[in-house]
Amino acid sequence: MLANDKSEAFVRNFAGQWLGLREVGANPPAPDLYPQYDRHLETSITEESRAFFAEILKHDLSVLNFVGSDSVVINERLARFYGIPDVRGAQFRRVPVPEGVHRGGIVTQASMLTITSNGTRTSPVKRGTWVLKNVLGIDPGLPVANAGDIAPKVPGIDKATVRQRLEIHRTLPQCARCHNKIDPLGFALENFNAAGEWRDQEGFGYKGRIERNDPKVNAASKLPDGTEINGVDDLRTVLRQREDLFLNCLASKMLTYALGRELGIADQPTVKAAVAHSKKNGYTLRSLIQFIVTSESFGSK
Ligand code: HEC
Repeated sequence: MLANDKSEAFVRNFAGQWLGLREVGANPPAPDLYPQYDRHLETSITEESRAFFAEILKHDLSVLNFVGSDSVVINERLARFYGIPDVRGAQFRRVPVPEGVHRGGIVTQASMLTITSNGTRTSPVKRGTWVLKNVLGIDPGLPVANAGDIAPKVPGIDKATVRQRLEIHRTLPQCARCHNKIDPLGFALENFNAAGEWRDQEGFGYKGRIERNDPKVNAASKLPDGTEINGVDDLRTVLRQREDLFLNCLASKMLTYALGRELGIADQPTVKAAVAHSKKNGYTLRSLIQFIVTSESFGSK
């Protein structure tokens, strides 16, 4: 199937576009705060996302692996960064995720985690927005003009975490309208710092180092429908449970990419049919791509 040139280029470029890989390095983690983040790590995190996509395609695996997977595709540099032992060498290969390491799936990849941070701190808002748009296919709405930065301080709290600084605006109903949908998804990822590295505490020491009494990360949150989640593992479970939203999102993004234009109402039957076709075929990435590149709309482009 994916034999012709048109299909091949499609596969190569789609992953980069969907996952925003061109944004990696545009606003990188500040070197004095995140000294582990260097050029080699940067190229590795981009390659990880591409290699993961390619692995799912090559082995005809289910697209639900994007949402949560028990393996990662990494090289030695990333293995060290993620705390996964016994991976040697520069080549990327599939490795099972050991017990206690919270990786596997796109929301745990350092590429996503850094492009949704702002260089010096995480942004649960940006991460939540990313998950809504790229996993669930939900438009969070445009940020309001002049919303300003997050509060620099919280009265009465000496070491106020990014999360605590953000909670303030959610007390205003005109902000909560959107931020109640966005922020809880991002809070679940707070165990990953702005460079995508795992942390249990938020650092307030010299150059952001973690000191003994620094606050513990709070990654518990409540989604608008009342579902309570605690951290990235629960987030991945919830996203998997919403597989129809994800499948629809992925199929829509693929069709948008294939057609090179925004989708309209008239394209919805194609999206639905692509999702149904993929479900009938083990949810594989190939079946989804195959449907889209052989669909009438793509063929007649
Ligand atoms: C229509 C939905 C919507 C409403 C209403 C809204 N926001 Fe936002 N806001 C967003 C989105 C989406 C983003 C993320 C944009 C991005 O990805 O950079 C955002 C980003 C932000 C950020 C930046 C967060 C960061 O980490 O830098 C702040 C601060 C913020 N909003 C505050 C507010 C405040 C205060 C209000 C109420 C006055 C408000 N917002 C109302 C959608 C909204």
